[in-house]
Amino acid sequence: MAHVSDLIATDIAGYLKAHEHKSLLRFITCGSVDDGKSTLIGRLLYDSKMLFEDHIAAMEADSRKWGTQGDNMDFALLVDGLAAEREQGITIDVAYRFFSTERRKFIVADTPGHEQYTRNMVTGASTADAAVLMVDARKGVLTQTRRHSYLVSLLGIRHVVVAINKMDLVDYSQKTFERIADDYQAFAKQLGLQNVTFIPVSAFKGDNITAPSEKTPWYHGPTLMGYLETVEVDEQRTQKGPFRLPVQWVNRPDLDFRGFSGTIAGGIVRSGDRIRVQPSGKESTVSRIVTFDGDIPLAVAGQSVTLTLADEIDISRGDLISTAEAPAGIADQFETTLVWMHDEPLLPGRSYLLKMGTRTVTASIMEVKYQVNVNTLEHVAAKTLGLNAIGICTLNLDRPVGFDPYAENRDTGGYILIDRLTNATVASGMLHFALRRSQNIHMQHVDVNKQARNELNRQKACVVWFTGLSGAGKSTIANLVEKKLYAMGHRTYLLDGDNVRHGLNKDLGFTDTDRVENIRRVAEVAKLMVDAGLIVLTAFISPFAAERQMARALVEEGEFFEIHADVPLATAEQRDVKGLYKKARRGELKNFTGIDSSYEVPEAPELRLATDGLSAEQAADKVVALLRERGCLG
Ligand code: ADX
Repeated sequence: MAHVSDLIATDIAGYLKAHEHKSLLRFITCGSVDDGKSTLIGRLLYDSKMLFEDHIAAMEADSRKWGTQGDNMDFALLVDGLAAEREQGITIDVAYRFFSTERRKFIVADTPGHEQYTRNMVTGASTADAAVLMVDARKGVLTQTRRHSYLVSLLGIRHVVVAINKMDLVDYSQKTFERIADDYQAFAKQLGLQNVTFIPVSAFKGDNITAPSEKTPWYHGPTLMGYLETVEVDEQRTQKGPFRLPVQWVNRPDLDFRGFSGTIAGGIVRSGDRIRVQPSGKESTVSRIVTFDGDIPLAVAGQSVTLTLADEIDISRGDLISTAEAPAGIADQFETTLVWMHDEPLLPGRSYLLKMGTRTVTASIMEVKYQVNVNTLEHVAAKTLGLNAIGICTLNLDRPVGFDPYAENRDTGGYILIDRLTNATVASGMLHFALRRSQNIHMQHVDVNKQARNELNRQKACVVWFTGLSGAGKSTIANLVEKKLYAMGHRTYLLDGDNVRHGLNKDLGFTDTDRVENIRRVAEVAKLMVDAGLIVLTAFISPFAAERQMARALVEEGEFFEIHADVPLATAEQRDVKGLYKKARRGELKNFTGIDSSYEVPEAPELRLATDGLSAEQAADKVVALLRERGCLG
């Protein structure tokens, strides 16, 4: 290491320059608790520590550079990563460590092996280039090893090194090493993992970590550090793919200089290249590639750039600029892998926010096709996904987006789902392919529209959405309101829980999933009826805020009135017109709202009716008054 110090002493600038251009490898370590992961990381850090300290000294010696050098970027990146996770509300348990050797810089994500492993690993590994899988030479390939390998393959990590550890405890036996390697290779094949390297090590004694061990003369492969220093990093790989730039922001659209900025997610771009913007499909030619250091003729994946184009075309944040030769796909329905990361299970049909690079759209999972048993790789029938579950699902977006299959580009094919109310990240997903049907169904344009019908009917069509516990008086009040509106000559329709559940929704019960679907269908029907020009009254418990929000979002601003029939549970239970509360209390009726199924109280309804202090007649009058006040009654 002396020569490094010499270089630092004599030519700090030169040293920093050399260091700045070193590539960065991100990798993860996986293994069970006792496999020696921490010992291994400690060993790697220890062996590179001297270098690292020298490096820090050099950085400090030349503090002017501290703000601009590449390494500072890495630290920033580390902190950013953590901040991003915190923002997304995921409690994760991933420790990131940074170290550096003469040849390369490294970020290692250490993900602990307890039961929340899936979530931690997906978070820590989504940008990893390589995975170090620890296997205890005495135990061989375990269920846990298979589980981790599946996740590694799922996340698209291309390079796997199986560190067969504790070789000192099996007398450095070549036979043992080969048996485990063969065993693993068979499984890796099933997963389609191609680049697997096996290294016999002892993290504790240091065998084959940085220097070849004399104890394993039969092994002629690389040391672990040697492997990590030379394995291809993802950036090098993505540079080989087609050009992709997710637009992060549009610069000064008001001025002459209209530039589109972002970090290149794939391939290479040169000035003069023909590009296509997705989802609009418009094409143009790159005029300039602008960076902080001025214009450059060519930029590659990983670089942050601003493009200017020859033509003035509409591009906004979230659009995807591709090479016109191999443009990204466009679709709004996909088959996808979903890794569920939240305690609250997935609710098919619920609307979530989907964040994919620089885009945020509204999304829902239409169907869980099956869940994967991570230990056996078996497909298991499933309707929903719980914490840590991995499933293959169909995904629906509220608008088309540009995308690539995750297997081809992690940035343009990977996404997260966010709960709209709590802002928590609930899942991480990988797109497989677009569903055919999404490309073949187009909206039909019609001439007789809602406005024309509203004029004819002399009213403003809208949804009057009653929500509240069973027995709160929703149906009774809605019924009265409809009678009053009818008497005034208005065109109305009442959708009532008990009735709709006998027809359109007779296949649905009262699990959370079924209730979400119940409301989704009712909301869609209400939307159609508003379009048909009717004042639609709905009377459903609709216990979840997310679905009420979804129903609201389906119609236009000012067309949705949430009416909370608000009554204490005790009162509703006392009324018990249908005798259902008694049944529920006796345990004969499961998932009963207010008893063993939740009701989320509306936070800002248009109207709150405290029905235990109000007659149904009075309550109905209040609703009619609201509609008149909001201009719905002509
Ligand atoms: S929702 O939760 O999906 O909106 P919905 O309003 O359609 O419910 O149906 C509620 C009606 O179904 C209640 O008024 C009651 O008569 C009946 N019902 C039967 N089982 C249940 C249950 N487990 N929870 C709530 N209501 C139930």
